[in-house]
Amino acid sequence: MTTTTVDSSRTEHGSMKYVVGLSIVAALGGLLFGYDTAVISGGIGFLRAYFSLDAAETGWAASSALTGCLIGAAIAGWISDLSGRKRALMIAAILFTVSGVWSALADSLSSFALARIIGGVGIGMASLVCPLYIAEIAPAASRGKLVSINQFAIVSGILVVYFVNYFIANANTEPWNIQYGWRWMFGSETLPAVVFLVLLFVVPESPRWLVKQGKNESALGTLTRLGGKEHADRELASIREVIAQERGTTTQLFQPGMRIILVIGVVLAILQQVTGINVFMYYAPEIFKQLGSGTNAALLQTIIIGAVNLTFTIVALYTIDRFGRKPLMIIGSTGMGLSLAALGLAAYLQKTELWVLLFILGYIASFALSMGPVVWVVLSEIFPTHIRGRAMAIATLTLWAANYLVSQTFPMINESPWLVENFHHAAPFWLYALFCLVTIVFVVMFVPETKGKSLEEIEQMWRSRRAAAQDE
Ligand code: BGC
Repeated sequence: MTTTTVDSSRTEHGSMKYVVGLSIVAALGGLLFGYDTAVISGGIGFLRAYFSLDAAETGWAASSALTGCLIGAAIAGWISDLSGRKRALMIAAILFTVSGVWSALADSLSSFALARIIGGVGIGMASLVCPLYIAEIAPAASRGKLVSINQFAIVSGILVVYFVNYFIANANTEPWNIQYGWRWMFGSETLPAVVFLVLLFVVPESPRWLVKQGKNESALGTLTRLGGKEHADRELASIREVIAQERGTTTQLFQPGMRIILVIGVVLAILQQVTGINVFMYYAPEIFKQLGSGTNAALLQTIIIGAVNLTFTIVALYTIDRFGRKPLMIIGSTGMGLSLAALGLAAYLQKTELWVLLFILGYIASFALSMGPVVWVVLSEIFPTHIRGRAMAIATLTLWAANYLVSQTFPMINESPWLVENFHHAAPFWLYALFCLVTIVFVVMFVPETKGKSLEEIEQMWRSRRAAAQDE
């Protein structure tokens, strides 16, 4: 059986700039993902005062977007399989735009929450379709790096909105911020959303999706622009060959051979979240304060977290295709686990200040180097083309659900009287450290290395494994 390895040198000589350009446009969806999830941290206090919200209403104002993310992740797979990756991205861009304008103009909590849910649907969709689209246009040799651009964009979005929030809040008085400041924070998202929508008009549809629709001519045109004529002919033949072997239905997702791929994707998605990243993304200032810092220091330390996250994502970008997915995940999870164990120990011994910051930064750097980008890369590449959208939807939906669970339960674990009495706030960190250990074992035992393989080769790899298992 013939398979195709993409000739990276050809692509480099041909249209690598074009591939990178398209990846950057798609990654703007990732930027909006980061921007829209983190904007709440700056606006929530003013919003609370403006609408006179109680604790439960404040929680709803903050978490309504997450409800939308679940919906978005659930429908994005089907939309992107049925109407194409490009159209799905356009829908997400429209939802971000509507949400940005609407949330800025909201005159009641329910109107605001609805606007946030709409934006959340956009986030959920973008979190799935952006890496998927990039993986489908990228040459094998640099697919990891290109998909990681999306993670880079997520992290940049988080950092940018943090500064935007900071500048809006600092340039104005408290009453003005309560009246208008939060509106500008949420409304500011409209600008990148519109830029994203406009740029999407010049982006081509994914060639793999086109072949599935029988539009071979258009697919060939795009493949030629991506990698040159020779590459395009080879890739088209390879994609057609793989698609011809597919008997794709949704139920196939749950058949024995496929089930293992789905389980790997879903478990990795859960592990990315239960190792605790968003506890730091969403609660960092509170954690710093709890461990001894003042408010200003806590805000400054939060900026440092964002900067370290960004820096080490760049390191991942340059190592993922060289070292491979597995080594990065193993090294990163080890660093995350050790940092969390040490952080837990500091909390247990009630030691504070500098050590705490160092352990948290060690954890963030290790995440940014590994589980952050690599999980999204693996999710975008391990599923066969005909079920990729739907399988990724299940994995992404699980990822958001796990995110929700962790964010919801952190304050409960952290403030549980019995745990505090016995462990002094160490319990959540040690729990997440335990999941890092699970991650290492799981990656070593079950996750295949996909570095340098074309998507069709990965698909063939699963098929041969299935055949070998049936022969036994
Ligand atoms: C995760 C997000 C997280 C972000 C932080 C992403 O890979 O999916 O949940 O907020 O990384 O950098």
